[in-house]
Amino acid sequence: MSIIEPQPLVNPPTGPLFVSHVSHFSPCRFSLVIPTYNERRNIGKIVEVLTRILDKSLPGDYELIVVDDDSPDGTWEVAAALIPNYPQLRVMRRQQERGLSSAVVRGWQVAGGDFLGVIDGDLQHPPEILLQLLRAVEEGADLAVASRHVDGGGVSRWSFIRRFLSRGAQLLGLVMLPGVLGRVSDPMSGYFVVSRCAIAGTTMHPVGYKILLEVLGRGKIREISEVGYVFCERCEGESKVTWRHYLDYLRHLWRLRNSTEGKLGWWNKFNFPWQRFFRFGVVGFSGVFVDLAVFHFLRRELELGLTRSTILSAEVAIINNFLWNDIWTFGDASRYQRGKRQRLRRFLKFNLVCLGGVVLQALLVFGFDKLGLNDYLAKLLAIAVVTLWNFWINLKLSWRVTDVK
Ligand code: GDD
Ligand code: MN
Repeated sequence: MSIIEPQPLVNPPTGPLFVSHVSHFSPCRFSLVIPTYNERRNIGKIVEVLTRILDKSLPGDYELIVVDDDSPDGTWEVAAALIPNYPQLRVMRRQQERGLSSAVVRGWQVAGGDFLGVIDGDLQHPPEILLQLLRAVEEGADLAVASRHVDGGGVSRWSFIRRFLSRGAQLLGLVMLPGVLGRVSDPMSGYFVVSRCAIAGTTMHPVGYKILLEVLGRGKIREISEVGYVFCERCEGESKVTWRHYLDYLRHLWRLRNSTEGKLGWWNKFNFPWQRFFRFGVVGFSGVFVDLAVFHFLRRELELGLTRSTILSAEVAIINNFLWNDIWTFGDASRYQRGKRQRLRRFLKFNLVCLGGVVLQALLVFGFDKLGLNDYLAKLLAIAVVTLWNFWINLKLSWRVTDVK
């Protein structure tokens, strides 16, 4: 009868969340962290699939690091029992600390790799694209992110509410931390590879779930690459996201915004696209005339009612603006997103963002009015803010112009 020896676990580091330039652990090319909490039924499968993929491309030169937060279902124990069959596997059981983001950094702290990655342990991130992410950093990118919002990306069966919350969270981040969240198309991704030197030497202060924000905000990230992926449905176990995580996200944005390092980081990196903004302004200006002309035509020639004329002429102006923006203001981005469907998507998003702008304008005028501002001044200020909003959100969400080449 064979006795299975209890496998030695990796001790969780303590102190600041700090990855050093030179690792004290056995060096290798690539270290992939798999954070887990109650993933007993997924862990075996994901370790098997990842091992199969990495054994082919990086035999003996990688490691998988499971970081488990003392799961009540004993994930760490199940993972540790796999070690004899998977020599590249290491397992950490954390009992003093909790939370996805810090788990990832703790994993990287004990890693020996030149490239550091993270993937969910529940098979919702397709392991097949891992090699593409790895290739991107090997070819010189500081960071390679798996994204749901570029070609080849998406979510499988998300409800409208979930999509809305996810996009709403991104929108808020784009306004609060434009120079951080605006750099990639999917800042909420929890699947990416970063080069060690890009994050070594900086102490991280993540809260909650979104470790990528921390990497983008505090790391020395110059070149970024993205690979599209479809976020699969979970087959086993359940998501750990609760309402508290949305609050954590807000706290995280706030902290990153206020930390001196973060501030320096994002202002230095923040390059406002003035030229594009100018073109956007010119197009918007042309829209005013289109709007007035069509309005005049509908009222005088077709004798339509005031409300109908207003709405119809506004929509014609939106179409006018969209077309010019699509071929001129953001023409370079449109060229990479060809096809009728893509164009229609951009158009619908553009409409939605403009609609949001109208609501925002009404709120602002109301607010400025309450502050005792003159009506016209209030309106003028609101127009300025809404123009910026329309520009920035369309740039990032409709045409998806990011720092990714
Ligand atoms: N160690 C540890 N500690 N792991 C955790 C914790 C924790 O407190 N909470 C969650 N995990 C692990 C889960 O076991 C899973 O492997 C992974 O982190 C993701 O958690 P889920 O609860 O399944 O998250 P999700 O599916 O809702 O969200 C994922 O998708 C997003 C897509 O935008 C996460 O990967 C996000 O990071 C990702 O952004
Ligand atoms: Mn999940």
